[in-house]
Amino acid sequence: MARTPSVADDDIFDLRLARSAPDLWPMLEALYGHRAEYGAFREALLKAMRKAWKDRAPDLKRLDLKRDLEPDWFQRSDMAGYVFYIDRFAGTLSKVLEKLDYLEELGITYVHFMPCLKPRPGDSDGGYSVMDYRAINPAYGTMTEFEAVTEELRKRGISVCIDLVLNHTAKEHVWAKKAVKGDAKYQDYYLMFDTPDLPKRYEETLVEVFPDNAPGNFTHYPDFGKWVWTTFNEHQWDLNWANPQVFLEIAEIMLFLANRGVDVLRLDAVAFMWKRMGTRCQSEPEVHMLLQALRAVCRIACPAVLHLEEAIVAPAEMLPYLGRGKHDGKEGNLAYHNSLMVQFWSALATRDTRLMTHVMGTHFPDRLTNATYATYIRCHDDIGWAVTDEDAAVLHLSGPAHRAFLSDFYDGTFPGSFARGALFQENPATGDKRISGSFASLAGLERALAEGDAAGVDLAVQRILMGHAMIAAFGGIPLIYMGDELALLNDYSYRDVPEHAHDSRWLHRPRMDWALAEGRHEGDGPSARVWRGVRHVLARRRAVPALHGGVPVRIVACDAPQVFAFRREAPTGVVLCLFNFSESWVHLPEAWVRAQGVGAMHDALSDAPVEVHHGNIALPPYARAWLI
Ligand code: GLC
Ligand code: GLC
Repeated sequence: MARTPSVADDDIFDLRLARSAPDLWPMLEALYGHRAEYGAFREALLKAMRKAWKDRAPDLKRLDLKRDLEPDWFQRSDMAGYVFYIDRFAGTLSKVLEKLDYLEELGITYVHFMPCLKPRPGDSDGGYSVMDYRAINPAYGTMTEFEAVTEELRKRGISVCIDLVLNHTAKEHVWAKKAVKGDAKYQDYYLMFDTPDLPKRYEETLVEVFPDNAPGNFTHYPDFGKWVWTTFNEHQWDLNWANPQVFLEIAEIMLFLANRGVDVLRLDAVAFMWKRMGTRCQSEPEVHMLLQALRAVCRIACPAVLHLEEAIVAPAEMLPYLGRGKHDGKEGNLAYHNSLMVQFWSALATRDTRLMTHVMGTHFPDRLTNATYATYIRCHDDIGWAVTDEDAAVLHLSGPAHRAFLSDFYDGTFPGSFARGALFQENPATGDKRISGSFASLAGLERALAEGDAAGVDLAVQRILMGHAMIAAFGGIPLIYMGDELALLNDYSYRDVPEHAHDSRWLHRPRMDWALAEGRHEGDGPSARVWRGVRHVLARRRAVPALHGGVPVRIVACDAPQVFAFRREAPTGVVLCLFNFSESWVHLPEAWVRAQGVGAMHDALSDAPVEVHHGNIALPPYARAWLI
């Protein structure tokens, strides 16, 4: 009798379905089981997953298998990400390929193409207002080119992340257009009301994301007589996730994109996906059920693909996006560590890490299941001061006063501030003021250069490199935002672009400065120093496997309040990571360092022995060290 040569494709699908079905159907049953069309919906979803698997290219299927065999691939210390707008970095998609040597030289193994699907014309909220999820922004290229680019990146071992905006579509999306024409099926894709009564009642407990230029959460369209839910801008219409058809459509889009060679889907603004009267309509339990179900769909039909969930919320609210309780290990593989980012800037302004130590040590577990953080210092968005009043009170600070101080410090108006930045969406009703600005400008480089202050330039460079060393060591994938590796300054030219002028986030979305990049190997200018420093940090990260995202991170209170400390507790030994958030020297007793489990007294970051003077180790201004 002839032996079957290998496991058939259908068998593989069935095995993966059996593995992940328990994560999928119960969620969908609970969300949609009461709807008459539930049975048909379930059938349609199963069919879509089977078809996507059947259509999946052989090299992607191979990658699926590889990642099933090495499920921790994204947690390893060789992962390092780079985030950019295709046009601002390279011009077009195909030209990205010409820049790969630059990225590889820096040590990048993961790229996030900022929104690249076809946006509405004109102001598209930086591409987050999508009118066609199956087409690439024509200004960047075509879907065929996109596939060629992902294939080349895959060959080079670089993963590709793209945005999937699933809270809203552009009002120019074909679904929205049909809804406007009166098609009831598509009106049920959105949240539309005939009278302002319900919107008014919802509004009582909602917050405003863009109070400045898009106040309120609903938009009235007199021409077709509806009030439409628009959490973000007027042109971004919230989807109705209580309708299973929306789930099906987005799941199909997700699988379509996965089969074009995407490795990571950044699920945008997920907190807002489920609405409940009387709440803020953020992070409702159903959001996590939806996200677990979407995750399971990928685990079944394209298991190589990961989900990065974007929920920029307070610590306790953020963790569930990485899977908590019954969702443990089943939700986002990655989520932004917004608190680490906020606390970095807070401690940098105060030269005091006690609030940071409290927040990091109290709210976050020392390890996660099947998940890790996306760690970052800057991204394309503003910085919101997500410090709760309760956490501030532990340090005898007033929450509102501390948050106001941080805004004043980083818009540069606070006396003695080193920063230059701008306010974003000041909300007089709540006193909330968010901040825009590039890493380098917020860290003091712009001001120091303008004032011809050489010592200030040096301090700014040290602050920047400390930030990079911190996100490289904390655990997770460090994401470098384009230009931060060259210490690019604020870009004030956005004020002259009509569709950007109202949005100060464009201050820190500069165009790549390739001339500056050319000079990265020579001289002692701040850009070259930062570039070489970042490359060094990433090279050392690769050399220290104990920085793997699965290795527990334990926050340690240090006697010197200027120093933020954590221990990575690997089976091979401890890595004690130290960061001096001040421009003063700090001395730490050798005995304390040894008590943390450091034996060899070697700094894995500088790759040099630690010097001990009279029983102390000395940390220079803005020092960073990974002691083993
Ligand atoms: C996300 C994006 C942000 C955008 C918003 C609305 O939070 O990061 O840039 O404005 O979603 O899509
Ligand atoms: C708010 C939202 C976040 C969005 C940002 C845009 O912080 O929570 O999702 O990215 O606003 O500025």
